[in-house]
Amino acid sequence: MSQDSTFKTIGVATGICLFCSLFVSVAAVKLSARQQENKQLDKIKNILQVADLADSDAPPMQIFQERIMPVLVDLATGKPVPKDQIDEKLDPNAFDVKALSGNPKYSHEIPGDQDLAGIKRQTNCMVVYLRKQGDTIDKVILPIYGKGLWSTLYGFLALEKDLETVSGITFYEHMETPGLGGEVDNPNWKSSWKGKQAFSPQGDKVIQVIKGQVNTASDAASHQIDGLSGATLTTRGVDNFIQFWLGDNGYGPFLKQLREAK
Ligand SMILES: Cc1cc2nc3c(=O)[nH]c(=O)nc-3n(C[C@H](O)[C@H](O)[C@H](O)COP(=O)(O)O)c2cc1C
Repeated sequence: MSQDSTFKTIGVATGICLFCSLFVSVAAVKLSARQQENKQLDKIKNILQVADLADSDAPPMQIFQERIMPVLVDLATGKPVPKDQIDEKLDPNAFDVKALSGNPKYSHEIPGDQDLAGIKRQTNCMVVYLRKQGDTIDKVILPIYGKGLWSTLYGFLALEKDLETVSGITFYEHMETPGLGGEVDNPNWKSSWKGKQAFSPQGDKVIQVIKGQVNTASDAASHQIDGLSGATLTTRGVDNFIQFWLGDNGYGPFLKQLREAK
């Protein structure tokens, strides 16, 4: 057979394709555990950031273990889930909200008229993170997520120990457009949340992300956040899922329990 026969050319091309696809498949499988670890580490870094603990020189995992207490909370009652009811899927360190919200054993459907976050189903429990200062809890970090324009945004909202004031917000996963909805990652926008009132002293939810700019001279400025310009739909999504997670279907009952225990 001649060196440049059609049969040989196709044979060599097929061989190279098979080798490459095998190589890519093996690499994908081998690296998936490391990808999961990196995702988990990134989540932890975001928790530390929103908890104002990101500046330390110590490794993130060490700060997390020393200063953050994850607690599995039953959203309906607002109470921590007793240890003997926590199986390996509900383990706060392995809790995977995406996987569990599709599992009927651990989740439920949200009635359409209450689904402000646009997530259709939610887990019965969520892991919240408490920042410890010695023996006291001085910040509460709440996972938040919901639909923006193109994607579901995942992040954390932190409250000060008064349970009224926002301490910070961060997003660790979304696919909104860079420069538009992607401005949820803009440090200036995120820092504009700090010090805003999420709840009134009576415990009523007051926080609002508005379209356009907040009138800083108005009384409402204490609980309003500027919308992202050119990204009204992402802004509306963020406002909606913040309302959802701070409301009765989200952490409302949990925050009520904490207020009563103060
Ligand atoms: C390519 C492209 C990407 C866009 N990405 C976003 C986005 O991530 N978030 C968003 O709210 N609007 C996005 N928009 C704009 C929306 O379609 C809509 O025009 C906008 O939300 C209206 O906001 P405005 O009232 O502030 O102008 C995008 C538009 C285009 C053409």
